[in-house]
Order: sequence, then structure tokens, then C-alpha cells
Amino acid sequence: MPKIPKNWFNIIPTFSDKFPKPLNPTTNKEMKIKDYREIIPKELAKQELLIGKYGKKTKIKIPREVLDLYKLYRPTPLARAERLEKYLNTPAKIYYKREDASPVGSHKLNTSIPQVFYSKKEDAECIVTDTGAGQWGSAIAISSNFFGLKSIVFMLRKSYEEKPYRVMMMKMFGSEVIPSPSDKTKTGKIALEISELSKTGSLGIGMSEAIETVMQTKGARLALGCMSNYAVLHQTVIGNECMTQLKKEGLNPDIMIGCVGGGSNLGGFCYPFIPKFTETKFIAAESDAVPVLTKGEYRYDFQDYLAFLPMIKMYTLGHKFLPPPIHSGGLRYHGKNSTLSYLVNKKIIEPRSYSQDRVFEAGKLFAKLEGIVPAPETSHAIAAVIEEAERCKRENKEKTIVFNFSGHGLLDLENYKQVLF
Ligand SMILES: Cc1ncc(COP(=O)(O)O)c(C=O)c1O
Repeated sequence: MPKIPKNWFNIIPTFSDKFPKPLNPTTNKEMKIKDYREIIPKELAKQELLIGKYGKKTKIKIPREVLDLYKLYRPTPLARAERLEKYLNTPAKIYYKREDASPVGSHKLNTSIPQVFYSKKEDAECIVTDTGAGQWGSAIAISSNFFGLKSIVFMLRKSYEEKPYRVMMMKMFGSEVIPSPSDKTKTGKIALEISELSKTGSLGIGMSEAIETVMQTKGARLALGCMSNYAVLHQTVIGNECMTQLKKEGLNPDIMIGCVGGGSNLGGFCYPFIPKFTETKFIAAESDAVPVLTKGEYRYDFQDYLAFLPMIKMYTLGHKFLPPPIHSGGLRYHGKNSTLSYLVNKKIIEPRSYSQDRVFEAGKLFAKLEGIVPAPETSHAIAAVIEEAERCKRENKEKTIVFNFSGHGLLDLENYKQVLF
């Protein structure tokens, strides 16, 4: 059994150009720690703004209290999809890192645990966040429960209605779950007036609702699932662990693939490999209904609908983008995080987009062959894996493909039903 990594991997010091830092949304100047006005804990603000060791060191020690909770589910298995290989009749070897094997069924706990830990250390009493499909909300619910804090989750209204068991799960761990847009905030009230948004919501709106709530609630801190530099940093426990597992099998990855919503699971999975494995192809699989990396612009933009949060340099469809009601709640966001955007712009990571029908067929095929139902988000990565494995067959190349299985879809079966049955 491989050990749990003791460090996260910070990719930013390896970048050749100056990395574009977050800007204050009102002054347009580089953000300072004091600009966060305690919305997030100081240590996370330092990680976000690359202050001190976070701007210089690639190895960042994981706090002991975080490691103690990682032990609940890490190391996660690295599995081989032999039945999928056989079905595709490909010479490629296909491996997948099972981030579904966590108590919430996805990679999200890797960063919710440290985010709640740092908040608790600074005497926070309540964590507020937004969630798409509910994976992130569940991770915050369970982490807040572990550290004895209250939690409030604004959940995309469409997902709230489609996923009652995800809502129940969050409630079981003590969260207050509010469908977004809601009438509890200024942002929510504005969004309720916009007919395309009132029934579905968007991640940008959920985020603004969460921030407004933090600003009005004493002792509250904001937690964010995927857009921050720190969320990606924490997720690198996946890649560090996977590297040890591949080494043990004597394997080098030729192709590494992950799905992308904000970009945290793909980043966490690939970043530790990027400086060392210069011949490896890294692929980011997004939804063609929200084609941020494949069709968006690379520029500074706001992270949330009402522009409360710092601007970051990213690929974006514009912070007022209204996502179509696709069945992958976690991929309905107008931008991608800054590090992923930087690496796509440098052509180190290749973006691809996939249609909903193709993605759900890929998810169903994987479930039938390997016995695990993937989350709709994860199925985007599987569509890319199938594409690459078929290319290996055509070119008769025995490549090693490794992908991040970001979450299971047992609470997403309603979405499978609506698309496939
Ligand atoms: C299972 C799963 N995979 C992937 C994602 C996308 O997020 P990210 O790109 O930050 O990993 C989500 C987001 O909700 C998710 O729930």
C-alpha cells in the first residue's frame, strides 16, 4: 500500500513567465491579503496570492490535522480498465485514479478538509459555499462536521431539484442547503427576476450568494471548490500519490486526462507530472455546451456573477454567461482557474470538448464494463480516454493512458435517466 503524500505540489514556481495574480475587483490593482477582509482565512489568502513560501517552494507540507483526515480515504486506488481495453481492442493500457473512493464520492474532500481546517484555526464558526451537482457541497458539509463548524450551502436550483439524495446527504452532516437563486440575498433576488436563470441558477450566482452571506454573517468564512490557486494546490495530493503508484508498477504515463469544471481535479492530478514528464500529453475534457477552454477568451474576468470576488486571468465566456441546463452541474461555470488557463495558453495542456450525448454513452459503457457508474463530469474524461485509446488502435501504439476518475455517479442516476432512457 503506498503511503499518503506528506506534501502538496505547487506548480507556480516552475512557470517560465510571471504568473498573473488576482486583481482587486474595485481598484484593478493586485490583491493584497487585507483586501480579502477575512472572507477567507489568512493562510488561504497567502496561498492564493503566492506570498512567502507559496511563491517560491514547490513542496508545501500538508498540515498534520489534514493528513489525519486524508487517512479516512487515502491512498485512493489506481485501477486498470482491462475490460474497457479489451472491448476497444486497443493496444493502449488504461489506468484510472479512483477519487470516487472517498466518503463523498469525489475528489472534493482533498481541498474542503484543508479549507475548513484553516478557517477553524482562525476561529471561524461557519463555512459558506456554493455547489453545482452537490459534490462540493457534500465535501464542505462533511468537513465542517469533522471540525465542528456550521455550514451553509447554496446549491444550483436545477441540481437541488434533481438530486434530493445529495441534499439529504448534506443535511445529514448538518448543513443548511439553500436552492440558488434564492430570495435570501441581493444577487439571488436579481437572478430570480431573470427567467433563464430563475429555474436553473449558475455557479457564478451561487458564488455571489455565498459571498454576500459571508459578509453579513459574523464568524463566517467562504469556501470555494475549484477556481482558486489553493484548491488546486490541495488537489495535488492526487498527482503526488499517483506518481508513486505508477512508479511502483514501472509505468510512465504517455497520456494523462481529466475532466474540467473549474480545473481543480485535472490540475491536482497532472501538475506534479508536468515539469518532469515533458513528453506526456495532458488533456482537459470540457463540455461543448460550456466551451471555456476551446472557445473562450484568455483575459482578466470576474469569478462570480455580481463581481464581488477578485478578477483572475483565465479563459472565460464572460461572468454573465448563462450556461445551458446540461446534466453535468459541476461543468456549468463560465471560467477555468488561473493555473490551468496559463498552461492551456502555453499549449502544455490540450483542451477538448465533448457533447452531452457522447459523454453519457461513454459513462454508460464504462459502467457496463468496469462496474462503476461515473459522475457525468467524470464521463467527459472517459469520452477523451476512448478517443485516445481508439487512436492508439489505429496507429498501433501501446501507450499508457492514465485518467482521473473524479467521482462516482450513484447520486446522478436521474441525469442518466433523462439523457439515455
Ligand atoms: C465529480 C466531479 N468531477 C469534476 C468536477 C469539476 O470540477 P473541477 O474541474 O474543479 O475538478 C466536479 C465539480 O463539481 C465534480 O463534481
